Amino acid sequence: MKHILSTKQFKRSDVEQLMREAEAMRKMVLTQGGNDLLKGKLVALLFYEPSTRTFASFSAAAQRLGAGTIPIQGVEYSSVAKGETLQDTVRSLESYADAIVLRHPVKGSVAEAAAKSSKPILNAGDGVGEHPTQALLDLFTIKEELGKLEGLTITMVGDLRNGRTVHSLARLLALFGATVNYVSPKTLRMPSDLVKDFAALGLKQHEYEKLDDVIADTDVLYVTRIQKERFATPAEYQAHKGIYVITPDTLKSAKKGMVVMHPLPRVDEITETVDTDPRAAYFRQMEYGMYMRMALLALVTGKSILSSAGDGRTIKIWTKTLGAKS
Ligand code: NCD
Repeated sequence: MKHILSTKQFKRSDVEQLMREAEAMRKMVLTQGGNDLLKGKLVALLFYEPSTRTFASFSAAAQRLGAGTIPIQGVEYSSVAKGETLQDTVRSLESYADAIVLRHPVKGSVAEAAAKSSKPILNAGDGVGEHPTQALLDLFTIKEELGKLEGLTITMVGDLRNGRTVHSLARLLALFGATVNYVSPKTLRMPSDLVKDFAALGLKQHEYEKLDDVIADTDVLYVTRIQKERFATPAEYQAHKGIYVITPDTLKSAKKGMVVMHPLPRVDEITETVDTDPRAAYFRQMEYGMYMRMALLALVTGKSILSSAGDGRTIKIWTKTLGAKS
């Protein structure tokens, strides 16, 4: 059993292995569109919060590998509306599916569900907690776009308190000797318990309120949405909305070889006029996401595109490290 619950569970070698798998998936899709690695498998997609990319990319990933899906996106149409608990809904799906991709608004709920599940559960976002598969695809994007992970300066800007993607990503960056700049208003800072955790892992972290202070030194500008749904009142959200907006002007002092990323959806934090800048990587990021999710679905179900192609580097490490903490 190999749940994907938090970026805490990964060692550097696991991440590197996953990136090799994702790269092999990319080559395979570009040359043949898909294969039968997961033929006969079923993946349940159970989403209690809105999603476009995570839902669709896991769905595409499963189907490109020959697996079927059980998509449950509008939980208001499922037995959840009749009052069924998360635990019971997951129990039902584990009797049909080989893996369950789960998104839920309550931090920690995905890990709780996994503790009782006999099938691998992949955390597709648990409230303000984590989004580990996004962090892995973000790292893969950086690697593909910039050719390396070592020694980079990543600037995260926006709602760092509520954005789960940055919580997961910063922890992974710690494994690769990165420097991270956090740019946010005081009210939306990276939670201090996480900053402490990451410092213990050796992550170099700096906090700012103005993007201008760091843009020139940035290799990856990671922009996040102000997480409207996490604020207690509409007024509190309004007070933060539009606080950072990336425009072509913002990028004038940025490096030529840097990239701009965003987990999407964007609201108003990057203007559409930035989209045509070659440094805008957020649409390419989505495609990398499908390859990484193919790699993850294969590995949690005990498969590997590299070992199936005769490369024996895989699996063993996985069965040892993943799941150990779940
Ligand atoms: C992110 C999420 O759901 O946390 N979206 C995604 O999965 N690509 C980011 C966000 O919603 O702001």
